[in-house]
This record gives sequence, structure tokens and C-alpha cells, in this order.
Amino acid sequence: MLSAWVLCACLLLWKLFYLAEKLLVLTVATEETDGFLRFMQSAGYFKYNVKVLGMGQTWKGGDVGRSIGGGQRVRLLKEAMEDLADQEDLVVLSVDSYDLIFSGGPEEILRKFQQANHKVLFAAEGLVWPDKKLADKYPSVRSGKRYLNSGGIIGYAPYVSRMVSQWNLHDNDDDQLFYTKIYVDPLQRQTLNMTLDHKCQIFQNLNGAVDEVLLKFGTGIVRVRNTVYDTLPVVVHGNGNTKMYLNYLSNYVPDTWNYEHGCTHCDDDVLDLSQLKEYPNVLVGVFIEQPTPFLPEFFERLLSLDYPKDKLKVFVHNNVSVYHEKHIQKFWEENRNVFSTFKVVGPEENLSQGEARNMGMDLCRKDAACDYYFSLDSDVMLTNRQTLKLLIEQNRKIIGPVVTRHGKLWSNFWGALSLDGYYARSEDYVDIVQRKRVGMWNIPFMAHVYLVKGSALRTELKEKNYFVLEKLDPDMAFCRNAREMGVFMYITNREDFGRLVSTANYNTSHYNNDLWQIFENPVDWKEKYIHQNYTKIFTENYLEEPCPDVFWFPVFSEKACDEIVGEMEHYGSWSGGTHEDKRIAGGYETVPTDDIHMRQIGYDKEWLHFIREFISPITLKVYSGYFTKGYAIMNFVVKYTPERQAYLRPHHDTSTFTINIALNNKDTDFQGGGCRFHRYNCSLSSPRKGWSFMHPGRLTHLHEGLPTTNGTRYIAVSFIDP
Ligand SMILES: *[C@@H]1O[C@H](CO)[C@@H](O)[C@H](O)[C@H]1NC(C)=O
Ligand SMILES: *[C@@H]1O[C@H](CO)[C@@H](O)[C@H](O)[C@H]1NC(C)=O
Ligand SMILES: *[C@@H]1O[C@H](CO)[C@@H](O)[C@H](O)[C@H]1NC(C)=O
Ligand SMILES: *[C@@H]1O[C@H](CO)[C@@H](O)[C@H](O)[C@H]1NC(C)=O
Ligand SMILES: *[C@@H]1O[C@H](CO)[C@@H](O)[C@H](O)[C@H]1NC(C)=O
Ligand SMILES: *[C@@H]1O[C@H](CO)[C@@H](O)[C@H](O)[C@H]1NC(C)=O
Ligand SMILES: *[C@@H]1O[C@H](CO)[C@@H](O)[C@H](O)[C@H]1NC(C)=O
Repeated sequence: MLSAWVLCACLLLWKLFYLAEKLLVLTVATEETDGFLRFMQSAGYFKYNVKVLGMGQTWKGGDVGRSIGGGQRVRLLKEAMEDLADQEDLVVLSVDSYDLIFSGGPEEILRKFQQANHKVLFAAEGLVWPDKKLADKYPSVRSGKRYLNSGGIIGYAPYVSRMVSQWNLHDNDDDQLFYTKIYVDPLQRQTLNMTLDHKCQIFQNLNGAVDEVLLKFGTGIVRVRNTVYDTLPVVVHGNGNTKMYLNYLSNYVPDTWNYEHGCTHCDDDVLDLSQLKEYPNVLVGVFIEQPTPFLPEFFERLLSLDYPKDKLKVFVHNNVSVYHEKHIQKFWEENRNVFSTFKVVGPEENLSQGEARNMGMDLCRKDAACDYYFSLDSDVMLTNRQTLKLLIEQNRKIIGPVVTRHGKLWSNFWGALSLDGYYARSEDYVDIVQRKRVGMWNIPFMAHVYLVKGSALRTELKEKNYFVLEKLDPDMAFCRNAREMGVFMYITNREDFGRLVSTANYNTSHYNNDLWQIFENPVDWKEKYIHQNYTKIFTENYLEEPCPDVFWFPVFSEKACDEIVGEMEHYGSWSGGTHEDKRIAGGYETVPTDDIHMRQIGYDKEWLHFIREFISPITLKVYSGYFTKGYAIMNFVVKYTPERQAYLRPHHDTSTFTINIALNNKDTDFQGGGCRFHRYNCSLSSPRKGWSFMHPGRLTHLHEGLPTTNGTRYIAVSFIDP
């Protein structure tokens, strides 16, 4: 019994070995495109024996993607078959390679070929090409695809040889038409013993069949399943306009990514920057094409990238006159000597976005010392300081980091293209955006931020006007050109790189416009305006109680304080601290201050949102059991100065509780100041900028504003839950 098993296993092994030996893959490729390299990688994975025909020769076969042609392939195959014509046991598989991958091994192909019981087997498809008139001449089929596709041919060498030896046309004549004519000739079909792979046992052409296929994840390799015929094709061909779909499939098939191991090739061919003598030279193209919130912070991020700045040249296109010029000017003045060069093209040059992007890219293209071009739009917040290094290390011609709009599915890439070249959502898009699938992804479109190799700009992408194409948006033009040149574009979500700032609804008619961004860009708002130690209030009890039930905690950043004061002084209409006050119901203020209300500068909605987001949680913590409505009518900034109003007499507030945020610094900006609570004989005489008091408004906490003796003191006050 045992020996029978051993014998059987040996036979099986021998058979596999023997079979694998007999299959020879022939493919025609004149250039090592990204698609070709991918083909070779998938062939190598399954240990196919591949012979490449025509490498380095000039392609004269026409533009087969768009019209007829490809005859050169038949000529080269004919020449190669002359030496193989008498090898009866040899099975030849002739396939395209620029847009084709394997999803199974040679044993499987041979087994399926033998089951087909013919000498020559062609791939099949549902569309007849190039001569529709030949459709009727095809034998009818009960089920399955009826028409021949010459992107995949498998057959015994003598038969394939006999077939291709009939070729005597030109290199730019059509290969598929040649094979079709042989196939539809009943005599030839019989003598050459030909058939088609009607049900995609071996060949899956994707043209017209994208809806038929699904990825099949299992243990081990990922396969493509044809759901119509319930088959697992071995050769997957992105013919016609399905190249992008093949790219999607090849993000998984055969072993690129799976649920168990994640990305298995992400670390192949990486560049180890630490092994280089010098860091590569990078030209950073910065594009400010519309008014963008948080632009100073954008520049700070650029400055804090972990990369030697003397290796960076910066090219800025600013299309936003006046408003952003001051930000750029300030950054330039402070950092002009930090970067290798820093060039700004302003709105006066009247460049369209496409022209500006061409100009930036061309600066790198023309400079042989430019190793990479890093295109960065002003709405990209790169929170990951390693971004540039990480992208360079991935060593791809074009690669971008995934950046997303906070809390949204909006990102800087598309997982798929519709047939007319616009957005379509891929099955994996959401998982990639949310980093549930992590890896490097070959995708059809990206924008906002990406890195391009200088060498690619000087070869495949050497055309100059990449960003100007018909009526397309410049990014779409660039990506379409890259797709047509067969250059793969990757995005990586292996790390969290950053986010996209929303530029919608950016009102630039205020003095400090980012203050208003609390709704549109809450994360950037918080980062800019909320005190660094605010969250410690909750995690480390980072607050003080200087007087009974008076709590003291950090809430605003320096920038928040400065910009609020700046906004108020820019507005300038201080009330003067008189009892008559038209701004309030009744028109009479018993304890008047010299102030400006938030509503006067159009900041009341934003301010109330700030109270609900950042003050209410503290209330809940310090006055436990009290649930604030987070509502306030009186929200204002007070100015104390010896020349106008220096102090405020003892009073109660019309609030359940009050917040009082110091907006500038004692001793540097003013002297004196502070607050005294009478019932407790307790004074707070050293206010800290950005810190807030919170105290009950009525009954227990009669208080007064202590005199400011020199300079000007500003505080922001809200009477909450009046
Ligand atoms: C094709 O060849 C196989 C053997 O390889 C044979 O069984 C079959 O009948 C042939 N078919 C035709 C149509 O000649
Ligand atoms: C800017 O360019 C547009 C067209 O490209 C032209 O119509 C316009 O007059 C130009 N403006 C200036 C100020 O040169
Ligand atoms: C940017 O430039 C284009 C002209 O190329 C112009 O139509 C557009 O209004 C400009 N945008 C801004 C915000 O200045
Ligand atoms: C922008 O802000 C100004 C000043 O507050 C205001 O008058 C204007 O209505 C706002 N514009 C938009 C579109 O909200
Ligand atoms: C935050 O707290 C740390 C440690 O207490 C301190 O060193 C740092 O200066 C604080 N940050 C600010 C902005 O005050
Ligand atoms: C209030 O406190 C001060 C010291 O902080 C003390 O000198 C004074 O006597 C106190 N007044 C009352 C009424 O307790
Ligand atoms: C008031 O402050 C200014 C600087 O802000 C300083 O020069 C001056 O000496 C101060 N006056 C007093 C009386 O402290």
C-alpha cells in the first residue's frame, strides 16, 4: 500500500517536472516597459520558461492600442518558430507581455491545454476585431465566447510553426486579422486542429469582460475567477481599454497583496538612502492655485521635512495675488538661504495652472542633476516628516502618498477610471483610503502630491507639455499621458502621510481668515489654535484651582491669541466702556467694559462651536453633574489700558459660568491686571497667555478686574448658559 503511494507521488512529481519542461513562453517586447517588467515578474513567480523576442528592436507594428497593426509580432514569432518546428513535444505559448499577467503556473496551463484536445488553442473574446464582416464566418458556439483574440495562443510547436509560416505581410499589418482568416477557413481549422478557449479555461481577455471577473482570495495566491463560466483563467490580458483594470488586478494577482500577508513586494527593489554617499537632488514644485487655508503651516511642514535642505530646490507657483503674497514673502525672508534655490512665479506672470506645472516639471527635466521632481499642492498637509525619503526609497517612476480629507473618503487618487476617463470607484478604494489594506497600489489617477524620477522625465516622459491636453484638468492630462506612455503610477498608504485641506468656502475677506476654518478644516484649526497641552487636561489632570471653584487651564495657542487680538484691533471699533450699549437688549450695560463682541466681527457661530468643542468637555470634568448647553449670548474681547479703561469694579456675570481667556502676556505686554474673588479673598494676579479661567457667574463669585497699570491687556470672555 505504502509503496503504491510512493510510486504514485513519484509519478506525479515526474509528470509535473516533465510537463513543466515542455512549455515555452514566447513573447514579443521591444522595450522594457513597466508592464513588461510586471509580466516577467509574474512569469518568474511561477517559473515559466520565457523567451523574449525583439527586445531593443524598433517597433514598426503601429499603435495596436488604437488601431490595427502588430504584424511585427507574427514575423518575429515566425522567425523564432523556424528553429522549433520539429519539436513535437514542445508546447509553445505565445502571449502579449505589456498588458498581461499570469495567475497560475505552467503545469496548470499544460493540463488544461491537454484537456482541450486540440493542437492549437486561441484566446477567445466576445467582440469581433478588426473585421466585423468576418463574424458570420466563425463557427457558432452554444455557450462561451465566439471570436478569436491573438493575444494568447497555445499549441504544439510544429502546428504553430506551420500556422505562422504563412505570414508574408508587413510589420504594420494586423496580426489578429491574419490569425482570424486562418481560423475562419474550415480547412485550415481542421488541418491545424485549431479551437478557441471559449470559456476562459486558460485565457481571460478583459476587453468587454470586466464584469465577468472577480478576485478570488484564498490561502496562498490570489486568482482571477470568471464568474460566468466558473473558471480560473491562468493568463489575464488587459486588452483594449482595460489596462487600468489589469493594473487593479495586478495589485493582488498572483501574490502582490493578500489578507494574510499584506503587501509582499513592497520592499522589493527599494533604494537604501543610508547607503548613498549623497542624498538625491529634488526639485520641489509648490502650487498655490487657489486661496488655501493654513498656508503658513503648509510652508512650515515643507521646512520640517526630514531631508537635507541644500538638496532641495523650490519652485513656487502662486496664482493668488495679494492674499498669499505676504505669506510667501515672509517665508522667503526667513528661509531664503535654507534651500538650494527658491524661485517664485507670481500671478503677474499670468500662467495657467497647466503652464505652471509644465514649467516646474521642465526645470527638473532640463537639469541632468535633478534626480526627482516632487510636486506638492498647497492644500496638502504632510504631517509625516519622512514623506520625501519614504517615497524616494520606494524607487518607482511615479509614486504619491495617499492623503485624505479628514473624516471623509475624499483622497488624492482614483482606484479606477470610467470608460470615458473620469472617476470610478474601485472595489478596494475605501479600504485603501481607510488603511484597511496597506501597500503600494498601481492606480490610474492621482493628484496633489507625487514624486517623479528625473530619469523618467528625460526618457518616457520627455514630452514637455504634459499638463496641457485638450480640455482636461492639468492633473488629468498628466496622468493620461503617463498611462499612454505605459508608465505605472503608484500610491502608497504604507504610512500615514498627511491630509488634504479643504479649500472650499474659504472666505478671505477677514483679517486672519484661518480662524474661521473651525468647521471646514477642524483638524488643522485645532492644531493651529488649540494649546499644545490642552488634551493633558483630560489625560493628566493638567489644570489648576487657584481659588475655590475657579479653574485654570490652557486652551489657546499663541497664534490663536495673537490672531484674535489682531482681528479685533483690525476691526477697531472698541465700545469705549460706556453704559449705553446699542449692541445689547435694553441698550444699557451696568458693568460696561471697553470691548468688541464676537458677533461684530462675524465670529459668533465659530466661537460658540469652539465653546461646545473645547470648553464643554472641561465643564463636565470640573463641575461634574452639571451639563452645559454650551450656549452664550455675550462673547467678547475686552481691552484694559490705563489710558482708557484699566479695571472693572466688583460684579456678578449674567452666566451660569464664565470663561476668561488671557490673550497676551503679563510683564511683556502689560503690567498689573488679574482678577479678584471677594468671597474667598483670593486674587489671580499672574494671568498666563492662552490660559482660561472658568468660574461660576452668579452668587458665590463676586469678582473684579484688577487695574492694568501699563501697556494693554486683552481677554476673551464668554458668559455661558445665561
Ligand atoms: C484534434 O486533435 C486531437 C488529438 O490531439 C483529436 O483527438 C481531435 O479529433 C482533433 N480534432 C480535429 C477537429 O481534428
Ligand atoms: C492673461 O492671459 C489671458 C489669456 O491667457 C489673457 O486673456 C489676459 O489678457 C492676460 N492678462 C494679462 C494681465 O496679461
Ligand atoms: C488663477 O489663474 C487663472 C488664469 O490662468 C484665473 O482664471 C484664476 O482666476 C486664477 N485664480 C486665482 C485664485 O487667482
Ligand atoms: C465673507 O466674510 C465677509 C466678512 O465677514 C462677509 O461679509 C461675507 O458675506 C462672507 N462671504 C461669504 C461667501 O460667506
Ligand atoms: C506643555 O507642557 C510641557 C510640560 O509640562 C511644557 O514643557 C511645555 O512648554 C508646554 N507647552 C506649552 C505650549 O506651554
Ligand atoms: C486677604 O488676604 C490678604 C493676603 O492675601 C490678607 O493680607 C488680608 O488680611 C485678607 N483679608 C481678609 C478680609 O481676610
Ligand atoms: C511701561 O511699559 C513700557 C514698555 O512697554 C516701558 O518702557 C515703561 O517703562 C513702562 N512703564 C512703567 C511705569 O513701568
